Amino acid sequence: MPLPDSIQKRLQLPAIASPMFIISNPELVIAQCKAGIVGSFPSLNAREPGQFEQWLIRLNEEITEDDAPYAVNLILHHSNKRLQEDVELCVKYKVPIIITSLGAKEDVFDAIHSYGGIVLHDVINQTFAHKAIDKGADGLILVATGAGGHAGTQSPFALVRETREWFDGPIALSGSIAHGASIAGSIAMGADLAYMGSLFIATEEANAVPAYKQMVADSSAEDILYTNLFTGVHGNYLTPSIVAAGIDPKELHKQEAVKMNFNEMGSDAKAWKDIWGCGQGIGAVKNVRPAKDVIEQLKTEYSEAISKFTN
Ligand SMILES: Cc1cc2nc3c(=O)[nH]c(=O)nc-3n(C[C@H](O)[C@H](O)[C@H](O)COP(=O)(O)O)c2cc1C
Repeated sequence: MPLPDSIQKRLQLPAIASPMFIISNPELVIAQCKAGIVGSFPSLNAREPGQFEQWLIRLNEEITEDDAPYAVNLILHHSNKRLQEDVELCVKYKVPIIITSLGAKEDVFDAIHSYGGIVLHDVINQTFAHKAIDKGADGLILVATGAGGHAGTQSPFALVRETREWFDGPIALSGSIAHGASIAGSIAMGADLAYMGSLFIATEEANAVPAYKQMVADSSAEDILYTNLFTGVHGNYLTPSIVAAGIDPKELHKQEAVKMNFNEMGSDAKAWKDIWGCGQGIGAVKNVRPAKDVIEQLKTEYSEAISKFTN
């Protein structure tokens, strides 16, 4: 079952541009929604609640019914001290879709439902998927192996099939999706939406330094390293950025993993600022472009892919 009709009819492609720490900003989100896919950002990308409120006012003004709706990502981990304030702002400005990560919370889901908002919770396995739905999430984001940021380890085929055995609500699939044919593949597998992050790092709107954008365009799956040493949670990173930060990837196992703390991530966290997160799908990314051009290409590739099923 896809998202409600009111949302589905506003999409030109069954896709969500996923939230990325530091990278996703209002410019990128607006470009994504105007091109017909859900754009999203983590609330923590706004430095403080006042700025978050300004962003929501701007998005509600600029994103119209003719565009795809936007989504806000709330980190539910206990170290996120801003959660309550940010939830209240999402309720006040009736954010259409909320993406939650790291620990399902019933009171947050209830708050979003109070104004008709939709909650999609991201998970890496069936245990977390059941917990999220039991606590009231409307849909699931299945984070498979190869995803940028805090990725899972399971095959997308296994994740989608096992979830579809008991859940017929909205499913977004993520992990290395950076081509229209991969979006079509996600739908064929049983997902309703593809969920894509890393390819949008290499866009003009993204809040990333030029070298990061170029590294995404120049790299491929072989350049991605999976480790928990930078944030305490396993994630995928660009190996050339680890080398540039003066760390020998072969010596990494000798370091101790840092503890996850979202309260301090904005300040001096080395991970994400100097060591660049990225999924394995970026072999499909060849250059840095406006987000609109990236999405137009995805639409063409998607049409070509689905025509193979119908011809
Ligand atoms: C640099 C970077 C930062 C990310 N930050 C967040 C975040 O703050 N919150 C979140 O829920 N997911 C975050 N993610 C994960 C993405 O939302 C999404 O799951 C992932 O990008 C999908 O895989 P893909 O990059 O292979 O498309 C991040 C991913 C990347 C690459």
